[in-house]
Amino acid sequence: MDITIADSRHIHFSAAISQEIDTSAKVRGTGIARRTPAYIASKIENQQAIIAVDKDKIAGFCYIEVWGQGRYLAHSGLIVFPAYRGKGLAKAIKEKTLIHSQKCYPTAKIFGITTGKAVMKINSQLGYKPVHFSELTDDIEFWNGCQSCKNYDVLIRTQRSMCLCTGMLYQGPSLEEKKQKSKWKQLFSTKKINQ
Ligand SMILES: CC(C)(COP(=O)(O)OP(=O)(O)OC[C@H]1O[C@@H](n2cnc3c(N)ncnc32)[C@H](O)[C@@H]1OP(=O)(O)O)[C@@H](O)C(=O)NCCC(=O)NCCS
Repeated sequence: MDITIADSRHIHFSAAISQEIDTSAKVRGTGIARRTPAYIASKIENQQAIIAVDKDKIAGFCYIEVWGQGRYLAHSGLIVFPAYRGKGLAKAIKEKTLIHSQKCYPTAKIFGITTGKAVMKINSQLGYKPVHFSELTDDIEFWNGCQSCKNYDVLIRTQRSMCLCTGMLYQGPSLEEKKQKSKWKQLFSTKKINQ
């Protein structure tokens, strides 16, 4: 399994990714923003996505969206194809997406909104914490993405202050802090070996 930053070699997977996101949303009974093949392709072209490929077969995908003039970042369209579920692939993809985001946008706040149990679990393990919607982006374009959700009326009734999704904000270490930590860890274990 190859989990990597998507690029032009992966554009031909766009239609299959778009289709699987739609099909899975229908199965879950949730309405989500439609991700057209063209939109997925644009994310791939702009290297704003992480893709998992298993011997030329698409296994999973997730992309980055930038909001509020780069002050906020969200990871969207997380999908693991049915044959590859339950093996930790979603977590691996989200982890890579987080690192890629931190490299490209070191100062952006990284957030997500979800009703998904698996995503809440993965986000918590990666260092996200639940927050009030007021701590997320106020970029209207982001919230317009909720229009195709069947719960949109709740969001409107509450003036975008709450809905059925949980808002989650990444509060774990920055990439620099992670690097420092692993440097110290390495140094400490080398010292131990030398003693
Ligand atoms: C949700 C989805 C991405 C999970 O992918 P996956 O590769 O099977 O997930 P992982 O194996 O990495 O599981 C990560 C964690 O979530 C848990 N989990 C996975 N699927 C779950 C589910 N349906 N319900 C509850 N928990 C689930 C796993 O047990 C694991 O927890 P652990 O670390 O404590 O063991 C995949 O089922 C999918 O693509 N579903 C359809 C699209 C979707 O729902 N996307 C999310 C939009 S918010």
